[in-house]
Amino acid sequence: MKTILVIHGPNLNLLGKREQEVYGSVTMDGINNALHAEAKQLGIELKIVQSNHEGEIVTLIGDAQNTSVDGILINPAAYTHTSVAIHDAVKGCSIPTVEVHLSNIYSREEFRHKSFTAPAVIGQVCGFGLQSYILGLRGLVEIVK
Ligand code: DQA
Repeated sequence: MKTILVIHGPNLNLLGKREQEVYGSVTMDGINNALHAEAKQLGIELKIVQSNHEGEIVTLIGDAQNTSVDGILINPAAYTHTSVAIHDAVKGCSIPTVEVHLSNIYSREEFRHKSFTAPAVIGQVCGFGLQSYILGLRGLVEIVK
């Protein structure tokens, strides 16, 4: 059975309370429950982690190769727009990775229009709320299966 590592970046633990006009009322637990339900349909396993720390996310990606992870689904959150280290970790890890965002980062403030992660991933899904994760997972599983 294939295993997908899901990484939620900084502040995504606050979904449901945080900027509801942008992110809606969905919580991280709500996203995780929907991902688990989808994973069951797809016949895959999920490992889900959330971190507010850039270095921890870099280590998770770097270690993924030694822990039989077949694909990575990541919402790097604010680190999307700043992190060369996460870009390098994804680029260097040789595990297919998909980037997702709840909001459409290209229709928001200009500083969100640049993704450092995007050039290192297979593809990016943004703007569909919770469905960005589901669509990203489906696309990723098509590739790793
Ligand atoms: C986000 C978009 C980022 O710009 C922001 O910093 C986040 C969430 C999203 O899922 O829409 O924290 O990644």
